[in-house]
Amino acid sequence: MIKTLDYKDVKLSGNIRVPGDKSISHRSVMFGALANGTTTVTGFLKGDDCLSTIDCFRKMGVTIEENGDTIVIHGKGFEGLREPEEILNVGNSGTTTRLLLGILAGLPFHTVIIGDESIAKRPMKRVTDPLRKMGAAIDGREDSQYTPLAVRGGTLSNIHYTLPYASAQLKSALIFAGLHTEGVTTIVEPEKTRDHTEQMIKQFGGTIERSGNEIYVKGSQSFVGQTIDVPGDISSAAFFLVAGAVVKKSKLLLHHVGLNPTRTGIIDVLLNMGADVVVEKESTQGEPLGKVTISEKELTATQIGGALIPRLIDEIPIIALLATQAQGTTVIKDAEELKVKETNRIDAVAGELAKLGANIEPTDDGLLIHGPTKLHGGQVDSRGDHRIGMMLAVAALLTDEVVTIEGVEAIGVSYPQFFSDLESVIL
Ligand code: S3P
Repeated sequence: MIKTLDYKDVKLSGNIRVPGDKSISHRSVMFGALANGTTTVTGFLKGDDCLSTIDCFRKMGVTIEENGDTIVIHGKGFEGLREPEEILNVGNSGTTTRLLLGILAGLPFHTVIIGDESIAKRPMKRVTDPLRKMGAAIDGREDSQYTPLAVRGGTLSNIHYTLPYASAQLKSALIFAGLHTEGVTTIVEPEKTRDHTEQMIKQFGGTIERSGNEIYVKGSQSFVGQTIDVPGDISSAAFFLVAGAVVKKSKLLLHHVGLNPTRTGIIDVLLNMGADVVVEKESTQGEPLGKVTISEKELTATQIGGALIPRLIDEIPIIALLATQAQGTTVIKDAEELKVKETNRIDAVAGELAKLGANIEPTDDGLLIHGPTKLHGGQVDSRGDHRIGMMLAVAALLTDEVVTIEGVEAIGVSYPQFFSDLESVIL
């Protein structure tokens, strides 16, 4: 689907509550299904990816009711899941694929996982290798690197495993697998990644410990159904934070936004670049959340790398656009993982932004962006990636010329109402 954006001389003003956090929404279905009793989730993200997770669990016999953005999951414990009669289709969702693999690895039945064209290119050996070491039988193309994947789960043994990548999906898959064992599984992260799985284990009445970058998961735990309020996704809020920071005379307030410190790298970057951003935390029982206000201001370039990368990995496309408006050269490094996201995001960001006049260079592990540049109109492509699509729509706010975006339907993966929210704050 093609969308033509013709924004002339706009400024942005108003309040937005972005939809629920994608990572937390996926996990709420998974823990709700594995717990005993009923779990009610409010603020659930009804995006395509999370709907794929719901669909997979329904096919394994879990009853899940939907009522707007509230879902109710009738969990029956680990033993309550049953062998699906059909193939599990994960659509475009890497999180569903990888976390599901960890859950299925310890269940005594056979499943086949498929997804879309993008999923078929995403590396799965990082997950299937350690799961096979723990005792799961997994087969797939190129020695279990790619979907379709067939899993026959069974009894798993503990593992002490150092993750070769700072990946929350990989970490979470191994945490789920560790829950199926008798003893303690130890996982070592190279850098701290988002900890929603760990938070949710505790919320559902379980335990998990951490010392430095080592995580200890005890097996044979049982969980009890809960009420979960999903905060807004900071990765979706990021598009409005950047729009508010760069579109002249703008001011936006984002409320009920998740502020888990493993996810707030975007706020650090905005502050480092000199943006006018104010964060007000609210007290909550579950994941941290609050209000973030952003006002337009002149920005300077920054350096982004190391431990900051996992804290903003999904925000790099929109940060690249931010950097095109800042004075100086912004360096993004240590971000090779961008090459194996929904698309190769180093190529996609550099290629698509260059079409709009950005001065941007791809590197082996990131991007160099020279600013400030006045962007112009043009014809661009989401390349089937929701975050590239939304970034290009924000870029369209910065030019008086027409921007035509191909493949906007991809945005439905994480933010189905993106354009109506955007239009609600355009003056
Ligand atoms: C996610 C982890 C990250 C992130 C993805 C969601 C998660 O992926 O990019 O959008 O929910 O655990 P990696 O674990 O591959 O870094």
